[in-house]
Amino acid sequence: MRAVAILTAAGSGERLGGGGPKALVELGGVPLVVRAAHALLGSGVVDHLVVTAPGDAVVQVADALARAEPPVAADVVVGGASRQASVAAGLAVVAALPGAGPGLVVLVHDAARPQVPADVVRRVVAAVRAGHGAVVPGLPVTDTVKQVDAPRDGAARVLGTPDRRALRAVQTPQGFTLDVLARAHGAGAARAGDEATAATDDAALVEALGLDVWVVDGHEDAMKITTVRDLAVAHALLAPEPPDGGR
Ligand code: CTP
Ligand code: MG
Repeated sequence: MRAVAILTAAGSGERLGGGGPKALVELGGVPLVVRAAHALLGSGVVDHLVVTAPGDAVVQVADALARAEPPVAADVVVGGASRQASVAAGLAVVAALPGAGPGLVVLVHDAARPQVPADVVRRVVAAVRAGHGAVVPGLPVTDTVKQVDAPRDGAARVLGTPDRRALRAVQTPQGFTLDVLARAHGAGAARAGDEATAATDDAALVEALGLDVWVVDGHEDAMKITTVRDLAVAHALLAPEPPDGGR
C-alpha cells in the first residue's frame, strides 16, 4: 500500500449553522466529504479511505460517497465526541487493514478542506516516505499574531507577540507512519473525550510525545471551511464551469 487516509467528517458543523453535518453541505452541488475524498484519491498516492461520520449520518455519508461521480469506495465508521476521538476511531480501522505495518503512511485529512491540491497530498506523503515520521502542510502567517489573556469586559490583555517569521498556519492532510500516529493517539487518549481538552490536530499529539514534526509547503486552496463566509470564498475559488457544460 502507498498510503491510507483517514478522512474526518464526523463534525456537526455548528459554526456553519446549516443544521446538519458540515461534510454533507454541498459546494457547487457536491458534498464536501465527496470533494475531499476525490481530492485525496486524485493525488494518485492514496490507496484507501477510512471516513468518520456522525453516528446519525453514517448512512447518508456512505450514500454520498457511493453515489459520487466517480463513486468512492471507503470504510465509513462512526466518529467520536471530538475530532481527536474520531481520528482514533478511524485509526483502529486502519491498523486492522490487511498489510498494515508500522511503516504504513497514514494521512489524516479534514472533509472541511475539500479543495486541497494534489501536490500538497503528494508532498506530505513523499516527506513521510523520506523518513519524517510526522509531516504537516503549512503556510506563513500574514497577520501579526498576539497571545492574549482571558477576555474581561470585552477586551483581552496582550501577553506577547511571537515572531511571525517563525509561525506557520497548518493544514491537512497531515501524514504519519502508522507507528507514530498510533503511539501519539495512544498516549493522548485521555484528552479525547471532549473538544475542550482534545488536540486540535494530530501533530500536537506527536509533539506531546516529544517526537519531531516537520512542516512542508501547504497551499491556500487547502483552506478550511468553518463559516458561511468560508463557504462563499470556496465557491468563488471553484474552477469556473465551461459554458457548454464540458461537452
Ligand atoms: N470532526 C470529526 N469528529 C468530530 C469533530 C470534527 O470527524 N467529533 C471533523 C469535521 O467533520 C471536520 C474536521 O474534523 O471535517 C475539522 O473539524 P471542524 O472544522 O471543527 O468541523 P465541525 O466540528 O463539523 O464544525 P464545528 O466545530 O463548527 O461544529
Ligand atoms: Mg469542530
